[in-house]
Amino acid sequence: MSDKHTHGGTRLDQTPEWAALAKHREELGDAQLRGLFADDPGRAERYTVQVGDLYLDYAKHLVTDETLQLLRELARARGVAELRDAMFRGEKINNTEDRAVLHTALRAPRDAVIEVDGANVVPAVHAVLDRMAAFADSVRSGLWAGQTGRRIRNIVNIGIGGSDLGPAMAYEVLRPWTDRSLTFRFVSNVDGADLHEAVRDLDPAETLFIVSSKTFTTIETITNATAARQWLLDGLGGAESAVAKHFVAVSTNAAEVAKFGIDTTNMFEFWDWVGGRYSYDSAIGLSLMIAIGPERFREMLAGFHLVDEHFRTAPPEANAPLLLGLLGVWYGQFFDAQSHAVLPYSHYLSRFTAYLQQLDMESNGKSVDRAGRPVDWQTGPVVWGTPGTNGQHAYYQLLHQGTKTIPVDFIGFARPVAELGDLAGQHDLLMANLFAQGQALAFGKTAEEVAAEGVPAEQVPHRTFRGNHPSTTILAAELSPSVLGQLIALYEHKVFVQGAIWGIDSFDQWGVELGKVLARRIEPALTEGADVPGLDASTAALVGRYRTLRGR
Ligand code: F6P
Repeated sequence: MSDKHTHGGTRLDQTPEWAALAKHREELGDAQLRGLFADDPGRAERYTVQVGDLYLDYAKHLVTDETLQLLRELARARGVAELRDAMFRGEKINNTEDRAVLHTALRAPRDAVIEVDGANVVPAVHAVLDRMAAFADSVRSGLWAGQTGRRIRNIVNIGIGGSDLGPAMAYEVLRPWTDRSLTFRFVSNVDGADLHEAVRDLDPAETLFIVSSKTFTTIETITNATAARQWLLDGLGGAESAVAKHFVAVSTNAAEVAKFGIDTTNMFEFWDWVGGRYSYDSAIGLSLMIAIGPERFREMLAGFHLVDEHFRTAPPEANAPLLLGLLGVWYGQFFDAQSHAVLPYSHYLSRFTAYLQQLDMESNGKSVDRAGRPVDWQTGPVVWGTPGTNGQHAYYQLLHQGTKTIPVDFIGFARPVAELGDLAGQHDLLMANLFAQGQALAFGKTAEEVAAEGVPAEQVPHRTFRGNHPSTTILAAELSPSVLGQLIALYEHKVFVQGAIWGIDSFDQWGVELGKVLARRIEPALTEGADVPGLDASTAALVGRYRTLRGR
């Protein structure tokens, strides 16, 4: 496994830049945001960056100009820009799988030239987008008829991980732009309840299944697709010819698609240089394109591309993904932050953080570097969060008064989406909450302030907020397909920056393999009572208990 991006063998923690940051952290001691703002009245204005429609405020971070300078020097020493350029050029920077990493090509303009193994991939990207558009239009217009001649009204995407989370999340985010006369469902869990609940009120004659799987070998997806096929045939009288009208596939694996029984003329292709968690702007987004239409889908791609270009060309001082990535590295290593909360103040972004969990945690949940050596530094954080203000009435207590450092990203929009109107001034109230939370987390409330309100002495500690909790606020004028693309690209590249600094391969996911292999081994023990060699005592007892409970 050759890899020229291992920094000539120098480990992150052996670099002078890392040592300089450690020293700086010591000097910073328990610097308070209150003090940092008092000492530097210009920081609120200076610590902002505009990328396309996204305005980022990072003034409420435990950093000074010197911190930022040292972090940028670390990025330079770790070759972040070189690795970025190699990615955009189509070099095989996913070294453990020997693959290029080219999700950026999925949103490149038609006339761009991006080569993998000497061949320009952009024409193929646009050919698939055009085929998707023609198909989406035919479903949206009612031209695509099912087996009985009736038009399609229900679209069910079957996929898991990157073949589910992207379209499922984006469908929620972009609901106001969807064709409301169509019903969309997303089935991922191998628990039969998922498919059952998704189809129980649907008419098979009007239902289209999109089986989405990069490999087309993922057991959950193939099992759900097999069950869906049965449900369809049962509902339509059993004629196999119905499959061609009611099933299409999205995959890189034509052979497996054909083996499953889907005509490959009804297959939308993507490529091994698109990672699953980076794939929803490929054909994996077909369900989304049917929902919002090809034009809106292209607007979303343009949003992605805008941030790609920003990441590729903006100077380090004004490079938003670089900055967000560096801040995460800073907190993980030097403040022992274990997690990162992403808290959107938009109901439409209800699944946004769930999507980011795969993007970030499957990418950077690694503990060996690109050369296979154990790392001695923090890598990817636990990413979590749900939309405000619901979280405020659930877990924000811990953010404010718990013992942990949890950096937060707040995401909000100045205007509600047009369709919503603004009954009872709800939007201002929503956004007032966002701004208030950032303020409270950063500046807290001192014991003196609490006492001055006449609070009894014994209650003062309970009502004191230590503050000093860092946050970024991302603000856009309004939600749109393009803004969604911009947001996702921002996080994709942030994850990239962190992986580059930590020296890990952000584009493989070997960590999910062991569980898959063991599940396949255990299944026959559950169904047939087969012996599983090497099963540990605890798991063997659970298997036994399961079989008893099932009456086997
Ligand atoms: O098991 C993890 C994973 O490989 C993810 O990386 C991927 O997004 C998901 O499974 C689904 O894979 P596929 O699209 O091949 O079905």
